[in-house]
Amino acid sequence: MSGTFDVAAARERFPALKQDQVFLDNAGGSQALGDVIDSITQYLSKTNVQLGASYHTGTISNTKYEQGYQAAAKYMNASRSEIVLGASTTQLFMNLSSALQIPEGSEIILSKMEHETNVKPWLVLADRLKLHVKWWESPKPELKLTPENLKPLLGPKVKFVACTHVSNILGGIHDVSAIAEVVHEAGALFCVDGVSFAPHRRVDVKALGVDFYAFSWYKVYGPHIAVLYASTAAQDHVKPLPHYFNPTKTLEDKLGFAASSYEAVQSIPHIVDYLADKSDAIAAHEGKLQAILLDFLSAREDVTVMGSTSADSAVRVPTISFVVEGRNSRAVVEQADKVSRFGFRWGHFYSKRLCDEVLGLGPEGVVRVSMVHYNTEDEIRELVEVLKKILS
Ligand SMILES: Cc1ncc(COP(=O)(O)O)c(C=O)c1O
Repeated sequence: MSGTFDVAAARERFPALKQDQVFLDNAGGSQALGDVIDSITQYLSKTNVQLGASYHTGTISNTKYEQGYQAAAKYMNASRSEIVLGASTTQLFMNLSSALQIPEGSEIILSKMEHETNVKPWLVLADRLKLHVKWWESPKPELKLTPENLKPLLGPKVKFVACTHVSNILGGIHDVSAIAEVVHEAGALFCVDGVSFAPHRRVDVKALGVDFYAFSWYKVYGPHIAVLYASTAAQDHVKPLPHYFNPTKTLEDKLGFAASSYEAVQSIPHIVDYLADKSDAIAAHEGKLQAILLDFLSAREDVTVMGSTSADSAVRVPTISFVVEGRNSRAVVEQADKVSRFGFRWGHFYSKRLCDEVLGLGPEGVVRVSMVHYNTEDEIRELVEVLKKILS
């Protein structure tokens, strides 16, 4: 069904969308699929036992949990042994940071275009191993991380580079596979935060050529759980953290601590089934949604869109942030809350270094409207009418 997208049919799959509220804070968290909700109820109602047991109900739980792991791995094009599921992307990066082995005194490169999730764990790592941190950024108006602006920072002492696939403020898609190439030529490991990419496009960690990659299923139509990938080769640099008597072969063994919610893990096959054949159609539909809002915002003299104003879905995802001259972002959102059914937000969204140091914004940050495939063109046209009134 490439190129066509039945948004009405998609919306039927999400119980939350039967309400009047229009959800436009999807980059904060998406609505959950009905099948996910039902499967969690079923799991907790019938098979909520400790994993690993050999009695009848125990074997059902074991199978469901394993199917969740298998589905998550397949969805990202990873092997079962290359992923771990856990509470959140932040938690999984923190686990990795405690386990990663990098020679003392090396350099690491972190970007300022990030959610703090892909910064703080590596500052902790730098502290532990006495590493020198180099900062990577792309100033306005480009605001794009590229192999070209990374290269001057690379060198023989650099052993680790981290950046986001898509900023949760800017929405532009970085060319991760091209960046991976230059990072690897320099002999460093590459870690990517895929949280703002995964709700919009299929993730293929092998095609991207990354060493580490994480995203959060609660933004991809599922429950509050996240996944971290580490390639088999990169796992040579991961010192296993479990109890001394537990296995240490897979990434789950190394970093998992039995810490992934069983009911959440077992629901993942429902998300994967739902998204299976929709990737191209979702990209095309999202392109239409972002064109409506970007056309309106770009035409206004008093509005600055942060990042690309292209509606091309190869260039960006529909996470759109802007500031309005002479208005603070908080006041704009609070006025919309009062007069409309649209739910969107203001702030720095934990990308504080980006908002303060790169974009030079005040404490109220941006107004962010973040759409996903279940939003409709009619909703976004209605939003434009609301914004026209608020900004008049
Ligand atoms: C780009 C990005 N990275 C990381 C995170 C943090 O994810 P988690 O809540 O799973 O730790 C977020 C959450 O908003 C995000 O937008």
